[in-house]
Amino acid sequence: MNREEQLTKIAEYSHAHMTVDRTGHGFDHIRRVVAMARKLSQQENADLLVTLAAAYLHDVIDDKLVADPQAALAKLQEFLSEIEFSAAQSEKVLFIIQNMSFAHTLDGDAVELPLEGQIVQDADWLDAIGAIGITRAIYFGGHHAEKIYDPRMKPRTVMTKEEYRNLDNETIINHFYEKLLKIKDQLNTPSAQRIAENRQQTMLDFLTEFKAEWNAEK
Ligand code: ADP
Ligand code: NI
Repeated sequence: MNREEQLTKIAEYSHAHMTVDRTGHGFDHIRRVVAMARKLSQQENADLLVTLAAAYLHDVIDDKLVADPQAALAKLQEFLSEIEFSAAQSEKVLFIIQNMSFAHTLDGDAVELPLEGQIVQDADWLDAIGAIGITRAIYFGGHHAEKIYDPRMKPRTVMTKEEYRNLDNETIINHFYEKLLKIKDQLNTPSAQRIAENRQQTMLDFLTEFKAEWNAEK
């Protein structure tokens, strides 16, 4: 099987596992992450097939999206061997998608990702900030019946993984302070850091406007 055929199969597999999502993890997110990962990898000397495979597959074993992550992992492993990924390629992809989430950066149990993983993590994180990030936060917050904003609720600046997963007591606006505004300084690659500058400003402008309107100042 050549590389193009492998990527087509991977895209189909990802699509089949992502289409029903209502929390901002839909296939449109995957498409953007793949496109950004491709762009970032042009500037870095990464293995493109592993990078794109991890980008397509990074959410298919997420415990927020599948009931049984262990079973999803076993199924994915079988799929990768069916499309003739070597053991090394397959291991790398699985390692990346199991270790790249934001939650892994909390509680101090982050592990060093290979370059391909750093690129996919950057592409995933860039999709959580800027205009798209604002939209996804509102979409996610609406789905989980979060309040839009409550000035009496202070953002939790330091959070454990458990607290991060606990959505009671969360507002959409607080999510910006608890996660989204911090992403810029956690990016791995210089190319992603450059792209984040404009996206960061977009969020800061949005928050300033939002609060002014909230307080009837504008
Ligand atoms: P990851 O892909 O790192 O696991 P999440 O699943 O937590 O990240 O986030 C997916 C999307 O939903 C992101 O755009 C994120 O900003 C948004 N999101 C996550 N948690 C919240 C929340 N409590 N309120 C609003 N948006 C959220
Ligand atoms: Ni993602």
